[in-house]
Amino acid sequence: MAVERTLVLVKPDGVRRGLIGEIISRFERKGLKIKALKMLWMTREQAEEFYKVHKGKPFFEELIEFITSGPIVAMVLEGDSAISVVRLMIGATDGRKAAPGTIRGDFALSIGENVVHASDSPESFEHEFRVIFSEDEVVGDY
Ligand code: RTP
Ligand code: MG
Repeated sequence: MAVERTLVLVKPDGVRRGLIGEIISRFERKGLKIKALKMLWMTREQAEEFYKVHKGKPFFEELIEFITSGPIVAMVLEGDSAISVVRLMIGATDGRKAAPGTIRGDFALSIGENVVHASDSPESFEHEFRVIFSEDEVVGDY
């Protein structure tokens, strides 16, 4: 078993649409452990750092505007193969192509406003975690 951590965001569209509970509930029922959880409103600086791999891409500015357009919910989830398991659960980036049964497949009809974010690698997780959390926000083993 490879215990991993991943970082998930409920994006501003998910918060506005009242999907926080639905999304957290899916991860809880799957058996993933919530190790940190908070609501925040990203600053532009935080957003540009968080998404720096996308700097220079045509959708970058739109992405920064969107992710800073309202509050988000950020969480650290832990479990066996958490990174790939959570990516499967959120579905393809484009909500129009995401499989039914996935979060985006069930709740998104757009590539930009796609309800959730999840880390795609351990390196991404480390980077994203540092932008949003500090170590003392992570709870001990339970
Ligand atoms: P995320 O990082 O949010 O989990 O999404 P992802 O890995 O599935 O997609 P990624 O390629 O990392 O893109 C990050 C976010 O940028 C927005 N995007 N817009 N208009 C476009 O063509 C476009 N492409 C990407 C989406 O909000 C995507 O989640
Ligand atoms: Mg990504």
